[in-house]
Amino acid sequence: MKGIILAGGSGTRLYPLTNAVSKQMLPVYNKPLVYYPLSVLMLGGIRDVLIISSPQHLDGFRQLLGDGSKLGINIEYAVQPQPNGIAEAFLIGADYIGDDSVALILGDNIFHGPGFGKLLQSEIAGTDGCVLFGYRVSDPHRYGIGEVDAAGRLLSLEEKPARPKSNIALTGLYLYDSDVVDVAKNVRPSARGELEITDVNREYLRQGRARMVDLGRGFAWLDTGTYDSLLQASQYVQVLEQRQGVRIACLEEISFRMGFIDAAACHELGHALRKTAYGRYLMEIAAETDWAERTE
Ligand code: G1P
Repeated sequence: MKGIILAGGSGTRLYPLTNAVSKQMLPVYNKPLVYYPLSVLMLGGIRDVLIISSPQHLDGFRQLLGDGSKLGINIEYAVQPQPNGIAEAFLIGADYIGDDSVALILGDNIFHGPGFGKLLQSEIAGTDGCVLFGYRVSDPHRYGIGEVDAAGRLLSLEEKPARPKSNIALTGLYLYDSDVVDVAKNVRPSARGELEITDVNREYLRQGRARMVDLGRGFAWLDTGTYDSLLQASQYVQVLEQRQGVRIACLEEISFRMGFIDAAACHELGHALRKTAYGRYLMEIAAETDWAERTE
């Protein structure tokens, strides 16, 4: 499966923070925001990633992540000239996706919870049609919303409804088979002039090939769309990292845990930063022999 991170958008709600800097580059505690969605793809076992961003911001992502080889993955880049909607990612990435299945994640979404990597790996292995991830929220009118029956089967999908039929938000993580490119080609722009991801998902639902996985309570799906939610995301990461002495979305650690790089390479990445706590953490991880049990 290929991965796509859509890191476009104009970020106007966070102005002036986003006047010169991409929203997905803003710090969430001690890492750029885009690290968090990239970590999700990597935890799912995905090693081929396309990052799509606006013409003015794409180079920043290239500088930050390069070709991914240090992490044992392949990263490519593509431009979204205008913020024409999330589903445009499949048109921009059509050749990249080819006949493969694809996971799309929005560059400003943070997911964190025990067992998430395993859940994702099993959903990726069984992707047929489209898999959506639902999360109960207190402000459903702000999101794509999924209505389900008593057995959890999807009944309807709506984008930011004024009167939501449920409080289950559709998170910015989507798995598709290779048909998604053709489905996206047939989507018409919405009233706000965008190719809506919800219209792609609706077509899969119409074909009876859309499923939703409930992420459940206790899981963290964090918003970064406002000054307050961005600060809260930082505080969430700070609390967990300081309390447990672990790092969330530490890409080098994930590469090592996933077997994308070996202990020597992980040590080397840490050694290059040995004067920092980040570097020392990487060297400690590389030296652990019981890391598998400790990180389950
Ligand atoms: C987009 C999607 C929406 C989804 C949300 C998740 O909205 O259109 O369905 O619930 O991402 O972050 P946006 O944040 O682009 O307004």
